[in-house]
Amino acid sequence: MTDYQPMLTLALTLAKQAGEEIKQLRKSLTIEFKFDDTELVTQADVAADKLISEGIQASFAGHDILSEELAPNSTTECEHLWVIDPIDGTVNYAHGHHQVAISIAYFYQGDCKVAVVHNPFTEETFSAIQGKGALLNGQAIQPSGKNQLHRAIVATGFPYQKDNIDPILKRVEYVLKNCADLRRIGAAALDICWVACGRMDAYFESVKPWDFAAAQLIAREAGAQFGHFIDIPEGENPQLFGQNILVTTPAIYSGIQGLLAEADAQ
Ligand code: IPD
Ligand code: CA
Ligand code: CA
Ligand code: CA
Repeated sequence: MTDYQPMLTLALTLAKQAGEEIKQLRKSLTIEFKFDDTELVTQADVAADKLISEGIQASFAGHDILSEELAPNSTTECEHLWVIDPIDGTVNYAHGHHQVAISIAYFYQGDCKVAVVHNPFTEETFSAIQGKGALLNGQAIQPSGKNQLHRAIVATGFPYQKDNIDPILKRVEYVLKNCADLRRIGAAALDICWVACGRMDAYFESVKPWDFAAAQLIAREAGAQFGHFIDIPEGENPQLFGQNILVTTPAIYSGIQGLLAEADAQ
């Protein structure tokens, strides 16, 4: 059996180094806009991506990297793949909100084996190795056990581009009317890890591979249910296909999926 501990050790080290770097760079913030006026990128996003990518290449030469800022178009069909979101929650970071994470996942033959989601501001580190459970700062975590939709706190997020926002708002309306409450934390990786550790009962959104690659393993290892509330195209890898993601406590998965389907049918 392969030992994935070296990958976990490296991911933890690089996430913490990048965390210190982005805290330092916060003191001399530079903001630019990607594509249009809605998505921010800072000098810290790029610096953290560089630090992590170079760290991986130094330890595992020949492994491939998919990362939001420096290698967003890499192929994911490779033997060894690292998926990096150098700052998940850039808008939070730029505005001084502390819900920010560095997300690093290691995949072997398309299957996530190691995951780290580290928040340098709260000093919380979620981690997992496939088959060994999920941890928060070294302690085992599990989902809330919530089994009633009307008691569930549900997290979601919204795309930067708002041109097709109406169907998303319809889903929000259905969830808000049928669940206890809704949250928009602003960092998808943390939303998912918060379901894993019981702070949130469900999460749904359409995101990019780097937003959820690490967190989905943490959620599954903790005992949460991860899937897509609309079937994904044949041949896509569910662990990297970001559209219509759903993560919940096991008991409410089909209930939330049903609500979202009802909203989509309107
Ligand atoms: C974003 C955050 C946000 C989610 C967006 C993501 P970024 O990632 O995870 O919560 O709603 O869809 O793009 O751009 O801050 O890395
Ligand atoms: Ca992200
Ligand atoms: Ca990012
Ligand atoms: Ca971004």
